[in-house]
Amino acid sequence: MLDNILSTAMQKIAEVTDLESLQHIKAEFLGKNSQINAEMKKLGIMDGEERKIFGQKINQIKEQIQYSLNAKSTKLEEQQWDQVFLSEKLDLSMPSRPFSKGSIHPITQSLAELVQIFASFGFQVKEGPSIESDWYNFTALSIDENHPARQMHDTFYLKNGQLLRTHTSPMQIRTIESGPPPFKFICPGRTYRCDSDTTHTPMFHQIEGMVIDKNINMGHLKYVIAETIKQFFEQPNIEVRFRPSFFPFTEPSAEVDLRFKGNDSWLEVLGCGMVHPKVLQNCKIDSEEYRGFAFGLGLERFAMLKYGIKDLRQFYEGDQRWINHYNFASLDIPNIVNGLTR
Ligand code: DAH
Repeated sequence: MLDNILSTAMQKIAEVTDLESLQHIKAEFLGKNSQINAEMKKLGIMDGEERKIFGQKINQIKEQIQYSLNAKSTKLEEQQWDQVFLSEKLDLSMPSRPFSKGSIHPITQSLAELVQIFASFGFQVKEGPSIESDWYNFTALSIDENHPARQMHDTFYLKNGQLLRTHTSPMQIRTIESGPPPFKFICPGRTYRCDSDTTHTPMFHQIEGMVIDKNINMGHLKYVIAETIKQFFEQPNIEVRFRPSFFPFTEPSAEVDLRFKGNDSWLEVLGCGMVHPKVLQNCKIDSEEYRGFAFGLGLERFAMLKYGIKDLRQFYEGDQRWINHYNFASLDIPNIVNGLTR
């Protein structure tokens, strides 16, 4: 009887092809209502040696069935996985989908780099309007009626008497007006002049910078400028020269020239100076108590020097090949910890 049960169980286990049916077989042979369970009840009416032998036999058979069930279950599971793997097979030789990768314009890249540097000195970043009034662009900055920058050939005037800002300096006035000092900010942005040749485009970019506080001196100005240049160019080969100059809104004023060591031509990259007391007075700030420095740098010039760009007009041709050539990754945001450029 027991041998019969065993051989039937073994045959059924051998023939079964899915896990669910295997569960049924388990219930049939090892469950509560199984024949083996019924056989086990006979132990109660047996005695001594007979009972021992019968008990051992039943246990052996149960173990054998359990063992075969386990082995079959493992095998069926493996088969199931094989099927999953086969149906999900990847064809690694298949070419990937084409994707287009944008890249960052050298102006945007250079601006992002300079913003990082100025931010590390504690400068806020502000933005101002492209369309300005005569007052903000000129008068409040002490640029009087006869200044050449005011004449038609330089400035784009609008029909309503307003103009396109010729520099970012109007943001000095807008900021000083906006609240009590101290101020420490940069203002990057587009600027416009009616001019076009190899070194001038009608639209270009400046970054204005300004610090107003008590006890500010020219040493602060020189440090900020020299350090910015050193960090931006990321190499010791760059020489910086401060040259006395004139701007109506600063006194004293200077221009800054750069050149690579061993290269004899200097390139003018920014104007700067100590804020003229008249500018502070125009904005009702006590010029006895407060002073400051300001600068306006030409972003294109910085970018040209750093990235070896020869012709200013290339910036604005919108030639995709030219932009790709510089290949500034769109998600690789410059920071002073990991380096400005890779
Ligand atoms: N605004 C001047 C220009 O466009 C540059 C400049 C010079 C800005 C001196 C300044 C400054 O803030 O202090 O040529």
